[in-house]
Amino acid sequence: MLTLGVETSCDETSVSVTDGRRVLANVVTSSIRLHKRYGGVVPEIASRFHVEYIIEVLEAALERSGKKLGDMKLIAVTNGPGLVGSLLTGITLAKALSFRLEIPLIGVNHVLAHLYSAFVGEAVPPRFPFVGLVVSGGHTALYSCRAIGVERLLGQTQDDAVGEAYDKVAKILGLGYPGGPAIEKAARASTGGGVTFPRSYLEKGSLDFSFSGVKTAVLYRVKGHDGKLDPRRLSAEAVSDICYAFQEAVLDVLVRKAHDAARAEGTEQVVVGGGVAINRRLREKFADAARIPGVTVAFPEPRYCTDNAAMIGFLGEVLYHKGRRSDLYLSAEPNLAAAGR
Ligand code: KG4
Ligand code: ZN
Repeated sequence: MLTLGVETSCDETSVSVTDGRRVLANVVTSSIRLHKRYGGVVPEIASRFHVEYIIEVLEAALERSGKKLGDMKLIAVTNGPGLVGSLLTGITLAKALSFRLEIPLIGVNHVLAHLYSAFVGEAVPPRFPFVGLVVSGGHTALYSCRAIGVERLLGQTQDDAVGEAYDKVAKILGLGYPGGPAIEKAARASTGGGVTFPRSYLEKGSLDFSFSGVKTAVLYRVKGHDGKLDPRRLSAEAVSDICYAFQEAVLDVLVRKAHDAARAEGTEQVVVGGGVAINRRLREKFADAARIPGVTVAFPEPRYCTDNAAMIGFLGEVLYHKGRRSDLYLSAEPNLAAAGR
Protein backbone atom coordinates (compact mmCIF):
# COMPACT_ATOMS: atom_id res chain seq x y z
CA MET A 1 0.00 0.00 0.00
CA LEU A 2 1.72 3.20 -1.12
CA THR A 3 2.39 5.22 2.00
CA LEU A 4 3.80 8.70 2.36
CA GLY A 5 5.95 8.90 5.52
CA VAL A 6 6.78 12.20 7.20
CA GLU A 7 9.35 12.69 9.96
CA THR A 8 10.22 16.05 11.57
CA SER A 9 10.62 15.25 15.27
CA CYS A 10 14.10 16.69 15.76
CA ASP A 11 16.75 17.98 13.34
CA GLU A 12 16.11 15.72 10.34
CA THR A 13 13.45 16.65 7.77
CA SER A 14 12.45 13.45 5.99
CA VAL A 15 9.77 12.21 3.60
CA SER A 16 9.48 8.68 2.24
CA VAL A 17 7.39 6.63 -0.14
CA THR A 18 7.09 3.03 1.04
CA ASP A 19 5.04 -0.01 0.18
CA GLY A 20 5.22 -2.45 3.07
CA ARG A 21 8.93 -3.07 3.72
CA ARG A 22 9.86 -1.84 0.27
CA VAL A 23 11.35 1.66 0.23
CA LEU A 24 10.75 3.52 -3.03
CA ALA A 25 12.22 6.77 -1.70
CA ASN A 26 13.57 7.99 1.63
CA VAL A 27 14.84 11.56 1.43
CA VAL A 28 16.52 12.96 4.53
CA THR A 29 17.99 16.39 5.02
CA SER A 30 19.33 17.71 8.29
CA SER A 31 19.82 21.03 10.05
CA ILE A 32 22.78 19.52 11.95
CA ARG A 33 25.32 21.98 10.52
CA LEU A 34 23.26 24.91 11.85
CA HIS A 35 23.36 23.51 15.42
CA LYS A 36 27.07 22.66 15.51
CA ARG A 37 28.22 26.02 16.92
CA TYR A 38 25.80 25.62 19.84
CA GLY A 39 26.91 22.07 20.73
CA GLY A 40 23.38 20.66 20.49
CA VAL A 41 20.03 21.02 18.75
CA VAL A 42 18.44 24.49 19.13
CA PRO A 43 14.67 23.83 18.89
CA GLU A 44 13.79 27.16 17.24
CA ILE A 45 16.42 26.67 14.51
CA ALA A 46 15.24 23.09 13.90
CA SER A 47 11.59 24.24 13.58
CA ARG A 48 12.41 26.95 11.07
CA PHE A 49 14.50 24.54 9.00
CA HIS A 50 11.59 22.09 8.72
CA VAL A 51 9.23 24.83 7.53
CA GLU A 52 11.78 25.96 4.96
CA TYR A 53 12.65 22.56 3.49
CA ILE A 54 9.69 20.21 3.97
CA ILE A 55 8.07 20.91 0.58
CA GLU A 56 11.36 20.48 -1.27
CA VAL A 57 11.96 17.19 0.55
CA LEU A 58 8.41 16.04 -0.28
CA GLU A 59 8.92 16.86 -3.96
CA ALA A 60 12.30 15.10 -4.02
CA ALA A 61 10.81 11.96 -2.43
CA LEU A 62 7.98 11.85 -4.98
CA GLU A 63 10.37 12.36 -7.86
CA ARG A 64 12.76 9.66 -6.63
CA SER A 65 9.92 7.18 -6.13
CA GLY A 66 8.49 7.84 -9.60
CA LYS A 67 5.05 8.29 -8.01
CA LYS A 68 2.62 11.16 -7.77
CA LEU A 69 0.87 12.55 -4.71
CA GLY A 70 -2.39 11.19 -6.10
CA ASP A 71 -0.96 7.63 -5.98
CA MET A 72 -0.60 7.72 -2.18
CA LYS A 73 -3.09 5.65 -0.19
CA LEU A 74 -2.02 6.53 3.37
CA ILE A 75 -0.08 9.24 5.20
CA ALA A 76 1.97 8.30 8.26
CA VAL A 77 3.53 11.06 10.35
CA THR A 78 5.58 11.17 13.55
CA ASN A 79 3.42 12.83 16.19
CA GLY A 80 5.80 12.32 19.12
CA PRO A 81 7.93 12.17 21.12
CA GLY A 82 10.09 15.06 19.92
CA LEU A 83 10.40 18.83 19.80
CA VAL A 84 6.92 20.27 19.68
CA GLY A 85 7.67 23.02 17.13
CA SER A 86 9.42 20.53 14.86
CA LEU A 87 6.68 17.89 15.14
CA LEU A 88 4.05 20.47 14.19
CA THR A 89 5.54 21.07 10.75
CA GLY A 90 5.28 17.41 9.74
CA ILE A 91 1.86 16.99 11.34
CA THR A 92 0.46 20.08 9.61
CA LEU A 93 1.75 18.92 6.21
CA ALA A 94 0.35 15.42 6.77
CA LYS A 95 -3.07 16.71 7.83
CA ALA A 96 -3.29 19.08 4.87
CA LEU A 97 -2.42 16.29 2.42
CA SER A 98 -4.76 13.81 4.08
CA PHE A 99 -7.62 16.33 3.84
CA ARG A 100 -6.85 17.37 0.27
CA LEU A 101 -6.20 13.86 -1.10
CA GLU A 102 -8.97 12.30 1.00
CA ILE A 103 -6.72 9.52 2.25
CA PRO A 104 -6.32 8.24 5.83
CA LEU A 105 -3.84 9.71 8.28
CA ILE A 106 -1.99 7.88 11.02
CA GLY A 107 0.17 9.33 13.80
CA VAL A 108 3.26 7.22 14.58
CA ASN A 109 5.32 7.00 17.77
CA HIS A 110 8.91 7.83 16.82
CA VAL A 111 10.53 5.55 19.42
CA LEU A 112 8.44 2.54 18.34
CA ALA A 113 9.36 3.32 14.73
CA HIS A 114 13.05 3.04 15.71
CA LEU A 115 12.21 -0.22 17.51
CA TYR A 116 10.89 -1.80 14.28
CA SER A 117 13.33 -0.18 11.83
CA ALA A 118 15.18 -3.49 11.30
CA PHE A 119 12.07 -4.58 9.34
CA VAL A 120 12.50 -1.79 6.78
CA GLY A 121 14.23 -2.45 3.47
CA GLU A 122 15.85 -5.47 1.94
CA ALA A 123 17.29 -7.37 4.91
CA VAL A 124 15.57 -10.50 6.26
CA PRO A 125 13.13 -9.23 8.91
CA PRO A 126 13.54 -10.37 12.53
CA ARG A 127 11.18 -13.03 13.90
CA PHE A 128 8.93 -12.54 16.93
CA PRO A 129 9.16 -12.70 19.88
CA PHE A 130 12.21 -10.58 20.63
CA VAL A 131 13.62 -8.02 22.98
CA GLY A 132 13.93 -4.61 21.34
CA LEU A 133 16.61 -2.13 22.35
CA VAL A 134 16.13 1.49 21.25
CA VAL A 135 19.30 3.58 21.50
CA SER A 136 18.82 7.10 20.17
CA GLY A 137 19.72 10.67 21.04
CA GLY A 138 16.51 11.15 23.01
CA HIS A 139 15.67 7.66 24.30
CA THR A 140 17.18 4.46 25.62
CA ALA A 141 14.65 1.73 26.28
CA LEU A 142 14.13 -2.02 26.29
CA TYR A 143 10.87 -3.56 25.07
CA SER A 144 9.43 -7.03 25.00
CA CYS A 145 7.91 -7.47 21.52
CA ARG A 146 5.36 -10.18 20.67
CA ALA A 147 4.14 -8.58 17.43
CA ILE A 148 4.10 -5.13 15.93
CA GLY A 149 1.72 -3.17 18.13
CA VAL A 150 2.10 -5.64 20.99
CA GLU A 151 5.06 -4.39 22.96
CA ARG A 152 5.77 -3.84 26.64
CA LEU A 153 8.30 -1.41 28.09
CA LEU A 154 10.79 -3.34 30.24
CA GLY A 155 13.12 -0.52 31.22
CA GLN A 156 14.40 2.88 30.17
CA THR A 157 16.95 5.48 31.07
CA GLN A 158 16.43 7.36 34.27
CA ASP A 159 18.49 10.33 33.15
CA ASP A 160 20.46 10.81 29.89
CA ALA A 161 19.79 8.77 26.77
CA VAL A 162 22.87 6.96 25.48
CA GLY A 163 23.14 9.16 22.35
CA GLU A 164 22.74 12.21 24.57
CA ALA A 165 25.66 10.95 26.71
CA TYR A 166 27.80 10.65 23.54
CA ASP A 167 26.79 14.20 22.57
CA LYS A 168 27.56 15.63 26.03
CA VAL A 169 30.91 13.85 26.33
CA ALA A 170 31.87 15.11 22.85
CA LYS A 171 30.97 18.63 23.97
CA ILE A 172 33.15 18.29 27.09
CA LEU A 173 36.05 17.16 24.88
CA GLY A 174 35.42 19.84 22.26
CA LEU A 175 34.67 17.26 19.55
CA GLY A 176 31.53 19.01 18.28
CA TYR A 177 27.97 17.89 17.59
CA PRO A 178 26.74 15.20 17.01
CA GLY A 179 29.04 13.36 19.38
CA GLY A 180 28.44 9.75 18.37
CA PRO A 181 30.42 9.61 15.11
CA ALA A 182 33.26 11.78 16.53
CA ILE A 183 33.65 9.65 19.65
CA GLU A 184 33.48 6.39 17.72
CA LYS A 185 36.22 7.64 15.39
CA ALA A 186 38.47 8.91 18.21
CA ALA A 187 37.98 5.67 20.17
CA ARG A 188 39.18 3.62 17.20
CA ALA A 189 42.55 5.39 17.39
CA SER A 190 43.05 4.35 21.03
CA THR A 191 45.19 1.41 22.11
CA GLY A 192 43.33 1.03 25.41
CA GLY A 193 45.28 3.57 27.40
CA GLY A 194 44.51 2.30 30.88
CA VAL A 195 41.60 4.71 31.46
CA THR A 196 38.37 3.17 32.80
CA PHE A 197 35.01 4.66 33.67
CA PRO A 198 32.29 3.16 35.88
CA ARG A 199 29.56 0.97 34.41
CA SER A 200 26.19 1.75 35.89
CA TYR A 201 24.02 -1.38 36.18
CA LEU A 202 21.67 0.01 38.90
CA GLU A 203 20.15 -2.50 41.35
CA LYS A 204 20.27 -6.23 40.61
CA GLY A 205 17.73 -7.28 38.00
CA SER A 206 16.94 -3.71 36.92
CA LEU A 207 16.46 -3.18 33.19
CA ASP A 208 16.62 0.59 33.56
CA PHE A 209 19.66 2.60 32.51
CA SER A 210 21.63 5.56 33.85
CA PHE A 211 24.29 7.35 31.83
CA SER A 212 24.70 10.62 33.72
CA GLY A 213 27.29 9.12 36.12
CA VAL A 214 29.74 8.12 33.39
CA LYS A 215 29.29 11.51 31.75
CA THR A 216 30.17 13.24 35.06
CA ALA A 217 33.19 10.93 35.48
CA VAL A 218 34.42 12.08 32.05
CA LEU A 219 33.78 15.71 33.02
CA TYR A 220 35.91 15.39 36.20
CA ARG A 221 38.70 13.65 34.31
CA VAL A 222 38.77 16.31 31.59
CA LYS A 223 38.09 19.51 33.56
CA GLY A 224 39.14 18.46 37.08
CA HIS A 225 36.93 18.45 40.18
CA ASP A 226 36.78 22.24 40.30
CA GLY A 227 36.00 22.45 36.56
CA LYS A 228 39.04 24.65 35.94
CA LEU A 229 41.31 22.46 33.81
CA ASP A 230 41.44 23.27 30.11
CA PRO A 231 40.46 20.30 27.89
CA ARG A 232 42.86 21.64 25.24
CA ARG A 233 45.80 20.50 27.38
CA LEU A 234 44.94 16.88 26.48
CA SER A 235 46.91 15.24 23.67
CA ALA A 236 45.07 13.57 20.80
CA GLU A 237 46.06 10.20 22.33
CA ALA A 238 44.60 11.14 25.72
CA VAL A 239 41.33 12.24 24.05
CA SER A 240 41.18 8.94 22.14
CA ASP A 241 41.75 6.95 25.33
CA ILE A 242 38.95 8.81 27.13
CA CYS A 243 36.59 8.24 24.18
CA TYR A 244 37.50 4.57 24.13
CA ALA A 245 36.93 4.12 27.86
CA PHE A 246 33.64 6.04 27.77
CA GLN A 247 32.37 4.05 24.80
CA GLU A 248 33.34 0.71 26.34
CA ALA A 249 31.55 1.64 29.57
CA VAL A 250 28.22 2.61 27.98
CA LEU A 251 28.16 -0.11 25.32
CA ASP A 252 28.94 -2.88 27.84
CA VAL A 253 25.89 -1.85 29.84
CA LEU A 254 23.66 -1.88 26.75
CA VAL A 255 24.78 -5.35 25.69
CA ARG A 256 24.56 -6.84 29.20
CA LYS A 257 21.07 -5.40 29.86
CA ALA A 258 19.75 -6.52 26.47
CA HIS A 259 20.98 -10.05 27.21
CA ASP A 260 19.48 -9.95 30.72
CA ALA A 261 16.17 -8.84 29.22
CA ALA A 262 16.24 -11.62 26.61
CA ARG A 263 16.87 -14.18 29.36
CA ALA A 264 14.10 -12.73 31.55
CA GLU A 265 11.66 -12.82 28.62
CA GLY A 266 12.66 -16.32 27.50
CA THR A 267 13.67 -15.22 23.99
CA GLU A 268 16.95 -15.65 22.14
CA GLN A 269 16.63 -12.66 19.91
CA VAL A 270 17.57 -9.02 20.39
CA VAL A 271 16.67 -6.34 17.83
CA VAL A 272 18.39 -2.95 18.05
CA GLY A 273 17.28 0.42 16.60
CA GLY A 274 18.05 4.16 16.84
CA GLY A 275 20.95 6.45 15.93
CA VAL A 276 23.48 4.71 18.20
CA ALA A 277 22.72 1.36 16.47
CA ILE A 278 24.92 2.59 13.63
CA ASN A 279 27.95 2.30 15.94
CA ARG A 280 30.32 -0.43 14.77
CA ARG A 281 31.74 -1.12 18.22
CA LEU A 282 28.20 -1.81 19.51
CA ARG A 283 27.69 -4.27 16.65
CA GLU A 284 31.03 -5.96 17.45
CA LYS A 285 30.19 -6.24 21.13
CA PHE A 286 26.80 -7.82 20.42
CA ALA A 287 28.43 -10.23 17.98
CA ASP A 288 31.07 -11.20 20.58
CA ALA A 289 28.52 -11.63 23.34
CA ALA A 290 26.30 -13.75 21.09
CA ARG A 291 28.97 -16.40 20.73
CA ILE A 292 28.61 -17.52 24.33
CA PRO A 293 24.93 -17.61 25.35
CA GLY A 294 23.58 -17.98 21.79
CA VAL A 295 21.53 -14.81 21.66
CA THR A 296 21.16 -13.55 18.08
CA VAL A 297 21.00 -9.87 17.30
CA ALA A 298 19.51 -7.94 14.39
CA PHE A 299 20.30 -4.38 13.37
CA PRO A 300 18.64 -2.04 10.85
CA GLU A 301 20.54 -1.02 7.74
CA PRO A 302 22.65 2.01 8.74
CA ARG A 303 20.47 4.44 6.73
CA TYR A 304 17.42 3.40 8.79
CA CYS A 305 19.21 3.82 12.17
CA THR A 306 19.23 7.61 12.40
CA ASP A 307 16.00 9.56 11.92
CA ASN A 308 14.22 8.79 8.66
CA ALA A 309 10.68 8.78 7.31
CA ALA A 310 10.81 5.22 5.90
CA MET A 311 10.57 3.71 9.39
CA ILE A 312 7.55 5.95 10.07
CA GLY A 313 5.83 4.93 6.82
CA PHE A 314 6.53 1.25 7.47
CA LEU A 315 5.14 1.23 11.03
CA GLY A 316 2.21 3.47 10.05
CA GLU A 317 1.14 1.07 7.33
CA VAL A 318 1.36 -2.00 9.60
CA LEU A 319 -0.71 -0.24 12.27
CA TYR A 320 -3.21 0.91 9.65
CA HIS A 321 -3.75 -2.71 8.59
CA LYS A 322 -4.34 -3.49 12.27
CA GLY A 323 -7.14 -0.93 12.35
CA ARG A 324 -5.39 2.11 13.84
CA ARG A 325 -6.50 5.54 12.56
CA SER A 326 -5.86 9.16 13.44
CA ASP A 327 -8.01 12.14 12.55
CA LEU A 328 -7.44 15.82 11.90
CA TYR A 329 -7.31 16.44 15.67
CA LEU A 330 -3.95 14.62 15.78
CA SER A 331 -1.65 16.65 18.04
CA ALA A 332 2.09 16.88 18.71
CA GLU A 333 3.04 14.89 21.81
CA PRO A 334 6.53 15.86 23.06
CA ASN A 335 6.74 13.05 25.65
CA LEU A 336 7.09 9.32 25.12
CA ALA A 337 4.25 8.35 27.46
CA ALA A 338 1.78 10.66 25.71
CA ALA A 339 2.86 9.78 22.15
CA GLY A 340 0.78 6.62 22.24
CA ARG A 341 1.43 3.47 20.30
O1 KG4 B 1 17.85 8.22 16.38
P1 KG4 B 1 18.52 9.51 16.19
O2 KG4 B 1 18.85 9.94 14.78
O3 KG4 B 1 17.71 10.69 16.80
C1 KG4 B 1 16.89 10.58 17.94
O4 KG4 B 1 15.76 10.06 17.83
O5 KG4 B 1 17.39 11.01 19.00
O6 KG4 B 1 19.85 9.44 17.06
C2 KG4 B 1 20.77 10.49 17.11
C3 KG4 B 1 21.84 10.09 18.10
C4 KG4 B 1 22.78 11.23 18.47
O7 KG4 B 1 22.85 11.34 19.87
C5 KG4 B 1 24.12 10.78 17.88
O8 KG4 B 1 25.25 11.21 18.61
C6 KG4 B 1 23.98 9.27 17.92
O9 KG4 B 1 22.65 9.02 17.57
N1 KG4 B 1 24.89 8.63 16.97
C7 KG4 B 1 25.87 7.77 17.33
C8 KG4 B 1 26.59 7.46 16.15
N2 KG4 B 1 26.01 8.11 15.11
C9 KG4 B 1 24.97 8.82 15.63
N3 KG4 B 1 26.20 7.27 18.53
C10 KG4 B 1 27.25 6.43 18.59
N4 KG4 B 1 28.00 6.10 17.53
C11 KG4 B 1 27.70 6.58 16.29
N5 KG4 B 1 28.46 6.26 15.25
ZN1 ZN C 1 15.11 9.22 16.41
